[in-house]
Amino acid sequence: DWTMAEFRKTKIEEIREQVGDRKVICGLSGGVDSAVAAVLIHEAIGDQLTCVFVDHGLMRMGEAEQVVSLFRGHYNIPLVHVDASTLFLKGLEGETDPERKRKFIGKTFIDVFEDEAKKIGGADFLAQGTLYPDVIESVSFTGGPSVTIKSHHNVGGLPERMDMKLVEPLRELFKDEVRELGRELGLPEAFVGRHPFPGPGLAIRIPGEVSRERADILRKADAIYLEEIRNAGLYDAIWQAFAVLLPVKTVGVMGDGRTYDSVCALRAVTSTDGMTADVYPFDGQFLGRVATRIINEVRGINRVVYDYTSKPPGTIEWE
Ligand code: XMP
Repeated sequence: DWTMAEFRKTKIEEIREQVGDRKVICGLSGGVDSAVAAVLIHEAIGDQLTCVFVDHGLMRMGEAEQVVSLFRGHYNIPLVHVDASTLFLKGLEGETDPERKRKFIGKTFIDVFEDEAKKIGGADFLAQGTLYPDVIESVSFTGGPSVTIKSHHNVGGLPERMDMKLVEPLRELFKDEVRELGRELGLPEAFVGRHPFPGPGLAIRIPGEVSRERADILRKADAIYLEEIRNAGLYDAIWQAFAVLLPVKTVGVMGDGRTYDSVCALRAVTSTDGMTADVYPFDGQFLGRVATRIINEVRGINRVVYDYTSKPPGTIEWE
């Protein structure tokens, strides 16, 4: 694509000019944005870039492994992979408030990242995969007298504390353009086309208290749902689809026994930038198949419901 090829060339020159021969550190979230930013910057300045992947243990099934193999295997980009799941999950114990969960994860992410940055001798620049909608949402949410709807942890925080200049090559782009740029840079389609995933990860898809056990249950249900969506050929028509594990138990019956287990909610929306969204209208047969599989295959879930709320008035995530 001509436009993205041009954009790539221009940005690479800009990055080289901005950074010179100094060092850049980039935090990978597991998502597309930070990965595309990192690959672009690596193309510009090579091994002056080090990536740090802080794994909070709240990723989707197989996601952490995918990021590591993409960076180390495919691109050979220097990558520090920190398994901080115990730290995150311990700290989340007893916490049920959505914003406090986000704030804790954001702060802990910064702490771990900062420690790792020190270990590798620091850097002059911090790279982030901030997109245009992140820029507007964080301004409009926190700029005026209006309340913060959701604090997005991938904007702000780090730069002030670490006293580093920012490299944000994707600041003018929307999600679809980032994907296009990712393809232009040779990222595998399965990675580039992946649905967006929030920084706080599964923590905000487990309303109420998060635990490793509940994260494991949710990961299994989510993987089944996504597998069925892929098999039905619907993955690319959907902006985001995911399972939510509710802090509600209901009664069910299985074989000749009574069950008393958690409810799982399924969400799927279409959108162009995440600011507004419509519900994806699955047919009943599809939903029935997913519900049956989840209940049969995932211990701890005995009821599945589908969320029919558009944004607005709902948000895409449940917290
Ligand atoms: P909402 O739920 O606000 O989501 O309608 C809009 C888009 O933003 C993502 N999202 C987040 N991303 N940190 C992130 O990095 C967050 O705290 C966060 N909350 C929501 C959400 O997945 C959707 O794509």
